Amino acid sequence: MNRLFLSRLWLDGLSVGLLLLGFAYWWLGNLVHEVTGAAMFLLLIAHNFFNRRWWGGIPRTRREPRSLVNLGVTVVLLGAMLALLVTSVLISNALSPFLPPWGGFTVRQIHTLAAYWVLIIVSIHLGLRWPMLMGIARKLFGIRKPSALRTLLLRAVALGIALHGFWSCTVLGLGGKLSMQMTLDWWDFEASVAGFFVHCAAVAGLVMVATFYGLQPVQRGRPSTNRPTTAAERTEPAPQG
Ligand code: HEM
Repeated sequence: MNRLFLSRLWLDGLSVGLLLLGFAYWWLGNLVHEVTGAAMFLLLIAHNFFNRRWWGGIPRTRREPRSLVNLGVTVVLLGAMLALLVTSVLISNALSPFLPPWGGFTVRQIHTLAAYWVLIIVSIHLGLRWPMLMGIARKLFGIRKPSALRTLLLRAVALGIALHGFWSCTVLGLGGKLSMQMTLDWWDFEASVAGFFVHCAAVAGLVMVATFYGLQPVQRGRPSTNRPTTAAERTEPAPQG
């Protein structure tokens, strides 16, 4: 398997880790929050540099549901990330001596809103790539033959994660955070740190599972042979050039 592609996937995983750390502002404090956020944005610039051919290929995107969903989600993700980046700069403590005082309460609210939406949209982005990630996992574990028992077990795990995700949405008050409602229910990091990350990961898992299974009818409608492999199905990067 292409080593560069595997390294890219490690960097993608690191970006997710940094994104989740960003939600723990009240545990890590402002300095760590700003440093992890800056590192995440640098990784995402590299991520898009590696995927630059995809951006260049947009005019040739096939007019079929899966590709169009992928395009729409990626564009919305770009918008949400840019909103997060711009608001981060405006409210940054480290950058405040060099910037006009534009980082008021509303900008902070938009920053938080964008962050929670980014969690949801990145999870959809990953859910769209789930067949590819599973393909890589199969290669790494040397799994060649299909197994009904393994499929059943993995589906049971997916169901468990999704159910946990529903519960986590209520525990984290996600509905309010995604609709910019004022809440005072901050996570108590003194009570548990791991619990917070488990809940965030479960929400991401729920959205990935929903995306993957939600797109099954679209995937099933397509002939499986004699068609070029889509990005989500690849276990190697797209041919360059
Ligand atoms: C934590 C954030 C993110 C994670 C974990 C993530 C993960 C991934 C993964 C696993 C892939 C396939 C493998 C690869 O090319 O590395 C991918 C592809 C891609 N990502 Fe991201 N991504 C993130 C953020 C973003 C952002 C912010 C954008 C910009 C809007 C973006 C744009 C793309 C594009 C254009 C592709 C190629 C799409 C395709 O081939 O269908 N990603 N991403």
